[in-house]
Amino acid sequence: MHVISLPPDPGLGEKLATLMKCSHARATYKTFPDGELYLRLPSTAGEPLILVSTTYPDQNRSLMELFFALEYLGSKGFRELYAVVPYMAYGRQDKEFLEGEVVSGRAVLRMLRDLGLRRLFVVDMHSAVLMSEFKDLVVNTLPARTLADYVGRAVRVPRIVIAPDVGASGRAEAIAKLLGCEYAVVSKFRDRITGEVTHRVPEELSLEGFNAVIVDDIVSTGGTVASIAKHLLSRGVEEVHVIASHGLFVGDSLAKLSSSGVRRVAVLNTVSHHVESDLVEYLDVTGELLEPIRNVLPTR
Ligand code: R5P
Repeated sequence: MHVISLPPDPGLGEKLATLMKCSHARATYKTFPDGELYLRLPSTAGEPLILVSTTYPDQNRSLMELFFALEYLGSKGFRELYAVVPYMAYGRQDKEFLEGEVVSGRAVLRMLRDLGLRRLFVVDMHSAVLMSEFKDLVVNTLPARTLADYVGRAVRVPRIVIAPDVGASGRAEAIAKLLGCEYAVVSKFRDRITGEVTHRVPEELSLEGFNAVIVDDIVSTGGTVASIAKHLLSRGVEEVHVIASHGLFVGDSLAKLSSSGVRRVAVLNTVSHHVESDLVEYLDVTGELLEPIRNVLPTR
């Protein structure tokens, strides 16, 4: 078994190779003056081969490099090709919400499968629809234990776990179960034309004196979490903490989160863009990610 880190690997390749006691090497890369990409893979003879990448901050570049690598390896006769991509971009466009919208999430997975990828190991993939459509390809890890252990250390009782929308309820339920506390689900309404999103926290929910833990898959602009945090604090919550699998932290998201009253945001090391902020803490997902890889690829 061999592990190759593609350029955006967020540091997981080397750790996984050490834990799996196999070799690790890095691809070399550059960008030509006109913007085209160059990639050179290290020589490796044996299989299975695990490519490690991620798709943030530069989704399109990372995907092209992954496609290039798979095509090249296939042309050299490699057949046991696997990829670890802890953050998989385009997962939110999993349907044609408006007529004519391309289903980019499906297109990406289809290309990976057509290029000979056997399994794609991801962390907390956004779309249940895509996971079901590509169940033979996608191996998803819900990092509930890593996130719940953090909450156990960082957030005082009494706690309540908050799912920002119905899609997040499974994740919230799993974490609340590990913590032995209740969870609640916020209703989300999105205007498909303007993109405007509104949230409604159940009125009957008693929140006074609780420390709330909002759990989401992605923190991007921070808008979702900031809006819910402000509402929770206005309802008597003591502290609002955020745990999420993928911290993209786009634009002024950190300022937005900080001014909303959020105490701390813990995210996993699934992307290669890390922010320096007292508000943000990074948790290592390697251990939880290793289990499904070992299940599919027992050490030979
Ligand atoms: C949406 O369905 C996702 O689960 C996240 O809630 C969303 O991507 C967060 O985005 P933002 O931080 O921009 O509000």
